Amino acid sequence: MSFGAVNEMKGIVLAGGNGTRLYPMTVAMSKQLIPVYDKPMIYYPISALMLAGIREILVITTPRDAAAFRALLGDGSQWGISLDYAVQPAPEGLPQAFLIAEPWLAGARAALVLGDNMFYGHGLTELLRRAALLPAGETIFCYEVSDPERYGVATLAPNGHVTDVVEKPMDPRSSWAVTGLYFVDERACDIVRTLKKSKRGEYEIVDLHRAYMRMGALRAERLGRGFAWFDMGTPEALLEAAQFVQAIERRQGQKVACLEEIAYRLNLIDARAVAHLTKGLNASYGRYLAKLIGGVNQIRHSA
Ligand code: G1P
Repeated sequence: MSFGAVNEMKGIVLAGGNGTRLYPMTVAMSKQLIPVYDKPMIYYPISALMLAGIREILVITTPRDAAAFRALLGDGSQWGISLDYAVQPAPEGLPQAFLIAEPWLAGARAALVLGDNMFYGHGLTELLRRAALLPAGETIFCYEVSDPERYGVATLAPNGHVTDVVEKPMDPRSSWAVTGLYFVDERACDIVRTLKKSKRGEYEIVDLHRAYMRMGALRAERLGRGFAWFDMGTPEALLEAAQFVQAIERRQGQKVACLEEIAYRLNLIDARAVAHLTKGLNASYGRYLAKLIGGVNQIRHSA
């Protein structure tokens, strides 16, 4: 597989928040740095942006954890991408990410992914790239769940149009959760500026969706049963996600969200760079990368 970068679309990973639902794991460490089986949580959302063809990514963190994220991810050049950093001084809602990113976006379209979301499945790359190439409007990704009241919930028309979207409804009208990955056009920042804080004192992402919906510019992609989506923001969900990654990796011998592998398969780095990265790695991660550059054709890509 070889894709070029998607013109003008930039990526944002929102890794702010207090992580209160993961207390006490998050007392001294950001939620998105917590390991999910064999890699830090933030690797998973970054992998989604890379697979979408995005090469410039802004990581928004809490002021407290900014240094740790930089230590972990660096400038991205090891994976052939560019990583920049910004801080969210206080968690005032997800849409704030667009305003924090605004100077950095410099008018570009953007994909925002929440730092605790994991996406996996056959055909994911194509789906993401399709959304990344759409010139106008917003694309959300919906996933059927048994507990929609925990999420944003969309009511979908057969043509993919969204007829309603509500945040954490007590009485959900559908089982389609709105996942934490949003592709927006360059109007997003202006729209966010018009939003009002909700009763809980935050700007709500659902209000951004509703604004696009009112303009007839909100599109939903359904992630069907061939996909896995996890929001890793509670102890149960965190464990489930880790067990999922472990099951896939042990059964298939293929890693989920291995950023070195993705970079190599997307031709962002070459075999020499991968070989360089294997130095100093633990035996199993290092062996995996060595095998990757030793026998590319033996390992099918599904990261
Ligand atoms: C946020 C959004 C919600 C979305 C969810 C996905 O909720 O507000 O619309 O469905 O992320 O992970 P949170 O998990 O921050 O409560």
